[in-house]
Amino acid sequence: MPEDRTESYLEGLRFEWKDIDFSATAQARKLAAPPLEKPYGKDRPLVRLPPIEAIEKPGLSLVDAILARKSRRKFSGEALSLQELALLLYCTQGVKSQNERRSLRTVPSGGARHAFETYLYLERVDGIGPGLYRYLALEHALVLERELDGADRASLDEALNGQLYGAAAYFIWTALPERMAWRYSFAAAKLLALDAGHVCQNLYLACEAIACGTCAIGAYDQAKMDAFLGLDGRLEFAVYMAPVGKIDPTS
Ligand SMILES: Cc1cc2nc3c(=O)[nH]c(=O)nc-3n(C[C@H](O)[C@H](O)[C@H](O)COP(=O)(O)O)c2cc1C
Repeated sequence: MPEDRTESYLEGLRFEWKDIDFSATAQARKLAAPPLEKPYGKDRPLVRLPPIEAIEKPGLSLVDAILARKSRRKFSGEALSLQELALLLYCTQGVKSQNERRSLRTVPSGGARHAFETYLYLERVDGIGPGLYRYLALEHALVLERELDGADRASLDEALNGQLYGAAAYFIWTALPERMAWRYSFAAAKLLALDAGHVCQNLYLACEAIACGTCAIGAYDQAKMDAFLGLDGRLEFAVYMAPVGKIDPTS
């Protein structure tokens, strides 16, 4: 029988806060904080997104969105509008204020470290060609990571363990643990896991408000997803994903 590693993995979630040596953290040693956002080539063209103030706010109440929320794995073939995509991105990682040390966003984050990046595999969004993009939260814009080739769809499906679900867009969140560990040392793993839940829950609720659906995906292939995104799997790695599409009225 294979060794049961549950207990040892759970150690990352169960520890005493007082055991963190805050005199030895990277922050305490005055090491430069990792950037608030993963840098991108400044020569690369950006897709500017409509600002949140310009987006029509849906009428559904928060309580109704909570009551309607469920995991949706069937979608109509419709495209998302750019406004809808912008709303979903702003609700999940949108920056409300920032200075050089930290950003405050639409989701909470331990110590406001916000140690995620959002990648987007877009198949059907009005006005944006298919491609693998990254949301630049500080700029509220998209940067094209790469155009898609014929093999990408099958590779993503494999990385999702066959859970492509025919969505218009796929949100893929990665963690950059140094951004969190700089202040919180080994507590980074737990704080990252807690933070990820807020992000995806906001996506569920924002989706309901605009007649879209989503489904949290945790059962993916780590190595294949990191390779799909071109990540080293250590300094940055995939943690969570979610397909998004207009709700299929028959589902
Ligand atoms: C952390 C997490 C990981 C999940 N991973 C998957 C997944 O890989 N595939 C899937 O189809 N659903 C996944 N789900 C969705 C759950 O199956 C779903 O939330 C659960 O069955 C309850 O259904 P509801 O969301 O409609 O209430 C995940 C949900 C969470 C919170």
